[in-house]
Amino acid sequence: MDKLVIEGGNKLKGEVVISGAKNSVLPLMASTILTSGVNTFTNVPDLADVRTMAELLTMLGAKVEYHKGKLEIDSTGINKWIAPYELVRTMRASVLVLGPLTARFGKTRVSFPGGCAIGERPVDQHLKGLEILGSKIIIDEGYIETKAKKLSGNIIPFDISTVTGTENMMLASVLADGETILLNAACEPEVTDLANALNKMGAKITGAGTDIITIKGVSKLKPIKNYKVMPDRIESGTLMVAAVALSADLVLKNCAFENSGAVIGKLIEVGAEITKVKGGVRVKGTGKLKSVDITTLPYPGFPTDMQAQLMTLMSISRGLSIINETIFPQRYLHAGELRRMGADIKLVGSSAVVRGVDGLSGAPIMASDLRASASLVLAGLIANGRTDILRVYHLDRGYDRLDKKLEQIGAKIWREKE
Ligand code: EPZ
Repeated sequence: MDKLVIEGGNKLKGEVVISGAKNSVLPLMASTILTSGVNTFTNVPDLADVRTMAELLTMLGAKVEYHKGKLEIDSTGINKWIAPYELVRTMRASVLVLGPLTARFGKTRVSFPGGCAIGERPVDQHLKGLEILGSKIIIDEGYIETKAKKLSGNIIPFDISTVTGTENMMLASVLADGETILLNAACEPEVTDLANALNKMGAKITGAGTDIITIKGVSKLKPIKNYKVMPDRIESGTLMVAAVALSADLVLKNCAFENSGAVIGKLIEVGAEITKVKGGVRVKGTGKLKSVDITTLPYPGFPTDMQAQLMTLMSISRGLSIINETIFPQRYLHAGELRRMGADIKLVGSSAVVRGVDGLSGAPIMASDLRASASLVLAGLIANGRTDILRVYHLDRGYDRLDKKLEQIGAKIWREKE
């Protein structure tokens, strides 16, 4: 198993190309279950989670090929509807096959996603939605079974804004009889990216990006060709924090300014200069690191997937910062590791009080989940001395060669066997 080693305190400068978004490509891959033929995608990130979804689709009968950012999924041969525990337990997003498999086969058996390092993550809203569309739901031996001759359109009021819940119900209802209306739907850009692709396949979806999404059922979808996956706004945000923390001047190519409003707003409050440039966004750290308060919220609010990275920045900022995590209240496993590097962080219920310190010192630390590992990489770049980050496989689930990209702009970072 690999670990990452970082010599901190090195200046960063230059350009980085942002990869396609993990949280967009996974539902896009699941959408191919609704077609029969060859689907192709571009700007696809090289991630462990993409390989897991490819393995799941292959297990269902699809042919999947990935080469240098291009993904081909031939869904003609999909003839199975079981998503086994062995795969689902490695990636919760596998639950995204629940809707499309029920739509395609009228039944499915998907392992119930288990526990998660970032906290409670029920799927009751996914099941509620499928029941409203007319599916029977049976929980059996740790599996969710659905049964529905034909799904029928209906109004689905979500009790809570859920990203994959919204995506699953869009995937389940595009081929259903009649019209479906999703109320209190998630507005994340990844939901809009999926709706755009489905509409290119022949679906009739309106209102994506707002909290009311309308889906008029159609009888058939055609395979999609060369759909370009949107840029990853969380990878963008992570690199923006690196620039601010290290007073660097970075240009993030293929970065969508529009999708990162809340993060950019907070970093400007901290003291950064952030501007749109041709083909991307320029981020200049000015050395000013003012402490700010953060409350994570559904989009367009501040993303929970950037909370850990901002905590690292606040740990070296001037003053006191209060972080309020409203989406995953226990999502603080990174705090203990940052404290090992000298950060001053107190957890109070679902909030964290961060008092800025003059600097962090390198140490052996352990990654616990995807975004926690990103916050530890940032801490290693900032710290004096050497930092060893164990269990770096968490990072590879959602970042496409982040260490190589950082090395290319001046970071001293490399991999070693644990
Ligand atoms: C998506 O997870 C992302 N994953 C997560 O990114 C992200 O943190 C999260 O949205 C919030 O932005 C993917 O897109 C693959 P939710 P998801 O359903 O859909 C509660 C990363 O690091 N809830 O929007 O699973 C839930 O407990 C990952 O890339 C229910 O109560 O999150 C949470 O408090 C981590 N019942 C809130 O809703 C449900 O049925 C939002 O969760 C579903 C959710």
